Amino acid sequence: MKAWTFARYGGPEVLEWVDLPDPVPGKGEIVTRVVAAALNPLDWKLRAGQYKVMTAWRLPRGVGYDYAGVVESVGEGVARLKPGDAVVGIVNPLDSRNAAMAERVCATEALATAKPPSLSFADGASLPGAGITAVQALREANLAAGQRVLVVGAAGGVGSFAVQYARACGAHVTAVASTAGQEFLARLEPDRAIDYNREDWKALAERFDIVFDASGTSTFPQCRRLLAPGGAFVHSLPDAALYCWSWWMKLTAKERCMPVMERPNLADLETLVAMAADGRLQSVVTRVGRPDELPELQREMALGHNRGKVVVRFAPEP
Ligand SMILES: NC(=O)c1ccc[n+]([C@@H]2O[C@H](COP(=O)([O-])OP(=O)(O)OC[C@H]3O[C@@H](n4cnc5c(N)ncnc54)[C@H](OP(=O)(O)O)[C@@H]3O)[C@@H](O)[C@H]2O)c1
Repeated sequence: MKAWTFARYGGPEVLEWVDLPDPVPGKGEIVTRVVAAALNPLDWKLRAGQYKVMTAWRLPRGVGYDYAGVVESVGEGVARLKPGDAVVGIVNPLDSRNAAMAERVCATEALATAKPPSLSFADGASLPGAGITAVQALREANLAAGQRVLVVGAAGGVGSFAVQYARACGAHVTAVASTAGQEFLARLEPDRAIDYNREDWKALAERFDIVFDASGTSTFPQCRRLLAPGGAFVHSLPDAALYCWSWWMKLTAKERCMPVMERPNLADLETLVAMAADGRLQSVVTRVGRPDELPELQREMALGHNRGKVVVRFAPEP
């Protein structure tokens, strides 16, 4: 089979479209013929060597973690899924043997769920990484109906799911994106949209129960004044300072400062798939590329102004 891999860190030019042996499922694993796989910033960050400490001994490695496709074979002990099933799944990013940007992917059954017919493979593939991050960030911030929620980076992958999930849970959502992101943002129907090129959202007079910076571009001191009493600030790119603030706020205040660190899990994936299948989450796929376009798609994503989700199609929708 063909698969995208890289054997050294660097720019998109280190990506290679190589021949690999077809994967064979081990205990608890399924092999899926990939129909669509989604890009995430983690893909280009890993390729660029940002997480070398965790991955240096695991080169060459594959690319991409979110996939949708049709199960071809299953390993010992797999009971929930069978060959022929359409699925949406996640590959563990620490698994260097297997990845989603390939004709076939081998992954654990525990992180795959049946894809309902009403959900396209492209939309299915768009859900896992960004969707689970959005759901976990808002849930851990104690999202509840009637709350006021501010989502920054609302036109990106994580942000576009956060806006929709918060609205579906009955929150009043203010969404922040650039001028270029406003048209896409309008499709997500936030209660209020802010263009950060024209208005400084950090200077808003109102207060929010949750401020979720899905773009990871702000700091806690910049956003603290936006929190209502007992409110939570959640950040998608926590650094050492944010962890210090998180600890300090636990000791000294009712308001919280929280890093989000996605934990792939089946229950959240099933929630997202169900919400997308019944229309509570609408499609955020803005581009469907060909496999040979992956280096260019990663280069564009690394510029930091991605819209919704970009997916690569490896086979026609069955
Ligand atoms: N902690 C975790 O577990 C976890 C999980 C997933 C993702 N992440 C990280 O979270 C970040 C976002 O992920 P993603 O998948 O949503 O990325 P994405 O699809 O590339 O979207 C990033 C968004 O950030 C917005 N943005 C850029 N500069 C901004 C600024 N100065 N102010 C406000 N918004 C700005 C961009 O919108 P405009 O064009 O409108 O500026 C873009 O839509 C990435 O850094 C990713 O690595 C972390």
